[in-house]
Amino acid sequence: MAQPVPIEPPARQKVHASFVVNGERCEVAFAPHRTLLEVLREDLALTGTKHGCELGECGTCTVLVDGVPVLSCLALALSCADRAIETIEGMARGGTLHPLQDAFAELGAAQCGYCTPGVLLTAKALLADCPAPTRAQIADALSGNLCRCTGYAKIVEAVERAAAVMQRAASDARSEASS
Ligand code: FES
Ligand code: FES
Repeated sequence: MAQPVPIEPPARQKVHASFVVNGERCEVAFAPHRTLLEVLREDLALTGTKHGCELGECGTCTVLVDGVPVLSCLALALSCADRAIETIEGMARGGTLHPLQDAFAELGAAQCGYCTPGVLLTAKALLADCPAPTRAQIADALSGNLCRCTGYAKIVEAVERAAAVMQRAASDARSEASS
């Protein structure tokens, strides 16, 4: 008599997907219900992305998916397959901090630092779209990122400083290319 084939309970079934995380392609097997936050932290050991409310309210889990800020606690990892994901671990390049990271450190815009990865990535997306934002535009872009420590003034100031540094660097590069 044929033996029954054991059926794996749905929670233990896994899907395979590939992602481009911080410029590197990786393959991961995970249960289909897992969020991008869970896969980044628990399967890829990228713990710079923080758990917060897990309800879409605090912004601390923000990462960039194809350059757009996404709340990783609400995104199914499977829906991000084959897309480019940037986490805080990919922000510094070759040991050089991103101008936003420099400005946050110089101005004391991070205190406990728990919100900082999400804030930095949201600010990076803002500056890619709008290289010289006003204070109101910065505050609006960061309105979904809650910070319990800084009172926001230093954060906004640091984004303004980074924007100025990046604009100067872009203008210097243009002058060099045309000389
Ligand atoms: S942990 Fe994702 S929004 Fe709070
Ligand atoms: S620096 Fe502590 S929550 Fe923002």
